[in-house]
This record gives sequence, structure tokens and C-alpha cells, in this order.
Amino acid sequence: MRHFLDLNQIDSSVLREIIERAKTFKLGDGLAERPLDGKILALIFEKPSTRTRVSFEAGMKRLGGEVIMLNSSDLQLARGETLSDTAKVLSCYVDCIMMRTLLESTLVELAENANVPVINGLTNRSHPCQLMADVMTFEEHCGPIKDKVIAWSGDGNNMAASWIQAAVQFDFVLHIACPPDLMPSQTLIDWAKCKGGRVYINHDPFIAVADADAVVTDTWVSMGDVDSNRHNLLATYRVDDALMAKAKPNSVFMHCMPANRGKDVSAEVIDGPQSLVFNEAENRMYSQMAILYWCLSETRG
Ligand code: CP
Ligand code: NVA
Repeated sequence: MRHFLDLNQIDSSVLREIIERAKTFKLGDGLAERPLDGKILALIFEKPSTRTRVSFEAGMKRLGGEVIMLNSSDLQLARGETLSDTAKVLSCYVDCIMMRTLLESTLVELAENANVPVINGLTNRSHPCQLMADVMTFEEHCGPIKDKVIAWSGDGNNMAASWIQAAVQFDFVLHIACPPDLMPSQTLIDWAKCKGGRVYINHDPFIAVADADAVVTDTWVSMGDVDSNRHNLLATYRVDDALMAKAKPNSVFMHCMPANRGKDVSAEVIDGPQSLVFNEAENRMYSQMAILYWCLSETRG
């Protein structure tokens, strides 16, 4: 079963193949054949979404397939039906399931019980679809990401975790600056080190961004987080002109969005010439089309 659950569970050559296919889909190649004609994708959301929701639906339709949009609160799940039963029942009707969950364990249980491929549309632990779009976007603007230097300044959250996995799988250098109380999971850091990943963690954003090709951040308060003291902890990690000035002169700024101008990033940076945020959003659709194509390739046609 070709689940797309996390970047560290998929061979790096497959991830590269998906990125290359996303580039061809962006050019319009292969769409006239409607490669997913007759296939149905279910999208389940436990949390809000703009990009993931619309880019999956638009992408599936461009491939000739169809989509059923499900809010988890409308399903019998909300009344206590088990995830296992839900997974088996949905597998009778659809060819693929994408789910955005509050807890990673929910996604894992869904995948363990589904008889069709399951795609991670964001959990509290990771956001692999976003990273596929981000690698594609970086490469469009800066060339191959291999050996490039990416800097993260902010919360050690689900996006930071996926950047760590991507650093190993796509072989780039990743400098992470985050507050001591908001570090990425030690298990993940250990995994990256064990794989020979060039992932370096500190608490000083100015050290992290030195000579970086890209500076990346994310919201201070992710969905499901409680903002007890996050605004205070993260204030010095804001990406602004002063921080960007320490990166390479031709560096780019990236953010998965939604962004909060004046908090995680200054308006000057996100709306300035170095920003790739709308390119990332656009490439969500093409990279997910390639993910869907890969997930469904064994059952296609
Ligand atoms: N970046 C991202 O996943 O955005 P949404 O929450 O709008 O889907
Ligand atoms: N870290 C953010 C990403 C949103 C796309 C969140 O989980 O809310």
C-alpha cells in the first residue's frame, strides 16, 4: 500500500521522482490523459484548512478524478464510531484518503486499517505535503536543494519536523534556531543524526541564518496549541529585515502560511522581493497531484 504518511517512511529516490513529476504536471504534461479518471479521493479534516483543502480538490480534478470532502465532525466518528471501522468502510467507496488530524496517532490508526492509500494532510507532528511543495519551490528559484543551507527560525513544530526529515532525504544542510522550551522532538533529531543528516540546532536565529540560502519560519501558535507563553518565547525569532540581512544576499524567504504579519514575520519580508510564499502555495497543488499519482499508480488504469 502506497501511503504518504511521512518523508522518513518513503525512499528518497521516490520523493525525488514525485518532485520531478510535479514539475511536469505544472507544465501541463500528462494531464490530457486524465490519469486518475474514475478515482475518488476522500478528504477528512479535523482542523481548518485553506491551501490543503483547495489544492487537493483542484489537483485531483485536474488529474481527472473526483473528491469527497468530509468534516470529521459530520461523520459517525464524532459519535464514537471507531476509526478502524471508519477506515474499512471508507475504503469500500473511495480509492484514496487524505486526512488532517489533531493527533498523529489518528492518522497512523487510519492507515493501519484502510485498504486504500492514506495521505498525511498535517498532524501535530508533521506536514510532509507542504515540504514537497517547499522543496519544489526552492529548486525552481535557487536550483538543486542538495548541499544548500536552509535556516529555520521559530517554533520547533510540525513544520520544523518535516524540514528535518527533508534535510536527510534531500541531502541539504539545515540550521534550526528555536527556544529551548519549543525544541523539535529529540527522537527525530537523533534519527537525523543517525542517518548522517546535516541538521544543527541552536537557540540563536542570527547564528542559524548566517549564509543561508533560505530562511523559513511558521506561525507561533499552531492549530491545537495553547498560547500560554509562546508570544514571549518566540518574539526574538521573528523573521524581519535585520535577520534576512544575515543570510546570503540572494536568499529567499519561505513560510507554509497562514502567516501573522508583525509576529512570526514582518510585512516587509513576507511581502517583499525575497518571499516565495505564494509560489509555495501554488506548488502545493502540483506536488500533491504527483503524490496522488504515486499513491494510486498501482491501481491506476
Ligand atoms: N500550509 C497549509 O497547510 O495551509 P492550510 O492550513 O490552509 O491548509
Ligand atoms: N504549524 C502550523 C502549520 C499550518 C499549515 C499548524 O500546525 O497550525
